[in-house]
Amino acid sequence: MAVFYDENTRTFKLDAGKASYAFTITPQGDIFHLYYGAHVSDGDLSHLQGRGGGASFCASPADAPEYNLDTSLQEYPGNGLGDFRVAAIAAEEANGASGVRLKYVSHKILQGKPPIPSLPSTYCNHADEAQTLAVATQDAHLGLRVTLYYCAFAQYSVITRWAIAENIGARPIKLQSVQSACVDFDESDYDMISLHGAWIRERAVERHALFHGTQSVGSKRGSSGHQLNPFAVICRKDATEQHGEAYGFQLVYSGNFCIEAEVSQMHTTRVTLGINPTDFAWMLMPGESFASPEAVLGYSDEGIGGLSRTLHRLYRNNLIRGTWKHKTRPVLINNWEATYFDFDADKLVAIAHEAAKTGIDLLVMDDGWFGVRNSDNCSLGDWTVNEDKLGCSLATLAERIKAEGLAFGIWFEPEMISPDSDLYRAHPDWALHIPGRESSLGRNQYVINMCLPEVRDNLFAQISAVLSSADISYLKWDFNRNLTEVFSAGLPPERGREVWHRYILGLYELLERLTEAFPDVLFESCSGGGGRFDLGMLYYMPQTWCSDNTDAVDRLKIQYGTSMAYPIASMGAHVQMNTIHSSRRTSLQFRASVAMAGTFGYELDLTKLSQDDIAEMKAFNEEFRKWQPLIATGDFYRLESPFEGAHTAWMFVAADKSKALLSYFCTFETKNDWRHLLRLQGLNPTARYHVSGYDFILSGDTLMRGGLRMPKQQGDAACVNVMLEACAKLEKTR
Ligand code: GLA
Repeated sequence: MAVFYDENTRTFKLDAGKASYAFTITPQGDIFHLYYGAHVSDGDLSHLQGRGGGASFCASPADAPEYNLDTSLQEYPGNGLGDFRVAAIAAEEANGASGVRLKYVSHKILQGKPPIPSLPSTYCNHADEAQTLAVATQDAHLGLRVTLYYCAFAQYSVITRWAIAENIGARPIKLQSVQSACVDFDESDYDMISLHGAWIRERAVERHALFHGTQSVGSKRGSSGHQLNPFAVICRKDATEQHGEAYGFQLVYSGNFCIEAEVSQMHTTRVTLGINPTDFAWMLMPGESFASPEAVLGYSDEGIGGLSRTLHRLYRNNLIRGTWKHKTRPVLINNWEATYFDFDADKLVAIAHEAAKTGIDLLVMDDGWFGVRNSDNCSLGDWTVNEDKLGCSLATLAERIKAEGLAFGIWFEPEMISPDSDLYRAHPDWALHIPGRESSLGRNQYVINMCLPEVRDNLFAQISAVLSSADISYLKWDFNRNLTEVFSAGLPPERGREVWHRYILGLYELLERLTEAFPDVLFESCSGGGGRFDLGMLYYMPQTWCSDNTDAVDRLKIQYGTSMAYPIASMGAHVQMNTIHSSRRTSLQFRASVAMAGTFGYELDLTKLSQDDIAEMKAFNEEFRKWQPLIATGDFYRLESPFEGAHTAWMFVAADKSKALLSYFCTFETKNDWRHLLRLQGLNPTARYHVSGYDFILSGDTLMRGGLRMPKQQGDAACVNVMLEACAKLEKTR
């Protein structure tokens, strides 16, 4: 049993993996938080309810003179009625008054995990994987019912949360904020880690001490964005990659979000996460309901590395869906960096011909195959094949690629519309716009209004027609600008601020229809590289293009940062030509070793390479095939950070610890710093491992405690891959 309820003390306790979480119902019905951390044995933790006493200037509710809300640790606090910290829920009633206080009504314990209406979410493969607690609460004055959901996974130290608000009264309610979760920690002595970035510099790791007041990461761009990822860690100050307590907070959502930590006057810390309240409001008419996205709360007492591994496992097994969930992903070649818009069928077939020699599985035709598109200034929305440019039909091209031995994939950017397109000329009102105001252009394009069902039907029909017209097994779904002029004619004025979220709901609906209609197509999400790397997209598409920056040295940081929150098998990573977005020259071995810590593929013009290069690629691809299952399904250990110096190292360890792959990168040669020592992680301390490239066999504990010296690296951007295989018998010791 994962969820316990003590009737006498009206206390709940949830056990998830190695974590426990507890809260209690006060006699007045307020829901006060008790505990979140490492597993504890007692079911009744009501003795922990210590805070909540009076503080000068704070007011107590009329029915609870013994406590005030501002100093209490609360589960899902409302606004305006005495808790002055960030609210989990804020609402306005018909007369303009604003304030919410939710009180316990009843609860249910469900086996497994229910889906969240119209939203992506983690799921159970079998009902015994999790239990879900649904706590019904209400504000009788408002006529607002809010059900708080807590799903405790048995195997993972993960609790996911969401809230469904329902108008059970007779008057409209305007929701001003509905956060997915709120956690009130009793202390404030924590650090916060987040992932910040920009285009071609995504997901850099930043860590700082919490301070009094609020600190947050978020997006108001209409998508999760390159700039701040919907992920944050709150950890003990002494937490490292390997040791200490870390709490992960992550959203299964692709739109505007906010993750906020507020340290209070009482030195407590409130963490809230959900849809960004800025630019949000939702009218709830009598009988209507509203569901928040899901929040994932991960716990680790094995440092930040332990937290990442838990999240990776959860997303690989309980978020990613469909045919490609566990299937070996193709090694692909994408023509974007090879040709940009300048290609025809012959050019693509020539690339495929060379690719076949190296063992590549799939060729992706990127931007430029539709409408009359030869640059980025037209045709988005006209998803009809430009046969004049290709020189043949799509079906013929796919057959020719197949004849070379490769599968065929294609690029789309469905959420955009070019002013210079037949679709825009026919339906100018389908672009997001504010009547009478000039619309902003981004990359020469407008954003299509995904709130409109006719838009989604049109896109479904156009994309389906293309996918059905040829043998297409992969689709790259791009999204290349932020949202502006976010308005949807047809919605009443009081619903104006719903458009941002309605856009995302529309997107998810279309993705659900398409992925259901084409279950065997491998979808890869993209947004100018990694501008929409989030769990919402990952639910529909098992991989996301990490960054338009394919420079391998920069990629060490981008992939290292991304691995904090996302599984390796979800990170699109390609070997580039050496000249794109960078003047840096690195060896194929280096570039490929970085790219293989991802989905692995190539993005270069193979027809311009020598046959020696082709042979080297072939040899690397053969090696990669041996490692691919371990990389895709193994546990990921970050040994050395590229943010801290010249050395980066990481490991993939099989679940049964029988095998491991260590990759070590030295980005620039450092004088008098040779034979670098790496202490390995994740091995079986009592197993003995054969270490490739070194003529010896060592036990796991020696390799983890004593370490392994890396060979001296000559020059900049050098790397080494070391395979460790547990072997039954001792061959040689050192
Ligand atoms: C975006 C993507 C690239 C490529 C181009 C095509 O920038 O990130 O990989 O597909 O669009 O226009």
